[in-house]
Amino acid sequence: MSFTVTAFVVYISGYSYLISGTTAIIPVLNPVHRNVVSSRGSNVTLTCLGRRVNALDTVVLWKFNGQEIKESTHNIAVDKFLPKRKGTFSLHITNVSEKDVGKYTCIALVANFGKADRVEDIIDLKLYESVKWPRGTYAVPMPHSGCPVSMEFSWSEGYLRQNTEDSGPLSNWSSPLHLKGEKKDNEITQHFCVKTKKAGKTRWPAGSYCIYKKGKCPRGFREGWIKWDDEDTKNDNLASGVLPDGTFAKDTILYFCCRSDGSAETPIELPMREPFFLLKHSSSCQAVMGMRVTEEWLFWDCEDRENKNSYFGDIPESFMAKDIKLYYCYYEKK
Ligand SMILES: *[C@@H]1O[C@H](CO)[C@@H](O)[C@H](O)[C@H]1NC(C)=O
Ligand SMILES: *[C@@H]1O[C@H](CO)[C@@H](O)[C@H](O)[C@H]1NC(C)=O
Ligand SMILES: *[C@@H]1O[C@H](CO)[C@@H](O)[C@H](O)[C@H]1NC(C)=O
Repeated sequence: MSFTVTAFVVYISGYSYLISGTTAIIPVLNPVHRNVVSSRGSNVTLTCLGRRVNALDTVVLWKFNGQEIKESTHNIAVDKFLPKRKGTFSLHITNVSEKDVGKYTCIALVANFGKADRVEDIIDLKLYESVKWPRGTYAVPMPHSGCPVSMEFSWSEGYLRQNTEDSGPLSNWSSPLHLKGEKKDNEITQHFCVKTKKAGKTRWPAGSYCIYKKGKCPRGFREGWIKWDDEDTKNDNLASGVLPDGTFAKDTILYFCCRSDGSAETPIELPMREPFFLLKHSSSCQAVMGMRVTEEWLFWDCEDRENKNSYFGDIPESFMAKDIKLYYCYYEKK
């Protein structure tokens, strides 16, 4: 005697994942961890989609951190919709708070001659507010909106003004550009958010991206540097405040920490409340969970005479010749 197993698709912020779409005699238990990120105080709906559901013999229930959820829970409502053997099983949570953070399991039980077969999947609910900046000392480019707020530490700030070629100046930049600092055809100013204390529990996730070096590169990164040959005549470079590792004089050297131990397409988890930047390290910007990404760039028209631009080691995605172009990834909440 065989019957059809319910196949589940979990819908999470517009993505759909097929969990187990098989036909089998015994249901396949195929728990896949998925992540939903929400803001404190908002309403969130967690949904499991079923196919080939027989409304008559399928029972769906939800568990939160292993405990069965009763429909009466004050801020949680369970919902199901079963047209034509398809099933939409939802959990509506209102006014989400820290106590709702955790693992939600949707379970379908199918009566199979006295013994219940089941398929289930787990959805991991987090708050935007609950993800912290990774441990270590480092720096990231500052967006117009300033350094992202952190409860655990405060970013130090600094800025760097580079006087690029003055005769026939051609420095330019992408549009839009969310990098803080004035940009002119012969002058590029950048601001930095610098983490000078190791504070933090999490590690930078595997992926393909770069940050600026400040002290030792956090684990998993490899270091590199770029030297900009800035304007020689009446050089007007200026470095102020706390900056990433580098040399700031009439020419500029900046150090980077880069990694390519994961796919840029696989979303990584970083604090999602406010806009921030990473540096691009491969053909595409690293995907970050819950964030929309825009690629941006800066183009430095470097010294024309006896140009000494150079680089070493692992550096961000760039164009390096007598002029330098660097690519940045701007993240903002979806
Ligand atoms: C959340 O849902 C409740 C009840 O349906 C509603 O009163 C409230 O306005 C919703 N809040 C938000 C932020 O959408
Ligand atoms: C939402 O929950 C918080 C506590 O987590 C409470 O202080 C607040 O009054 C609640 N808001 C609503 C609209 O129920
Ligand atoms: C930026 O300047 C470079 C060098 O002049 C030029 O090749 C490039 O086309 C410019 N880009 C834009 C978007 O103006």
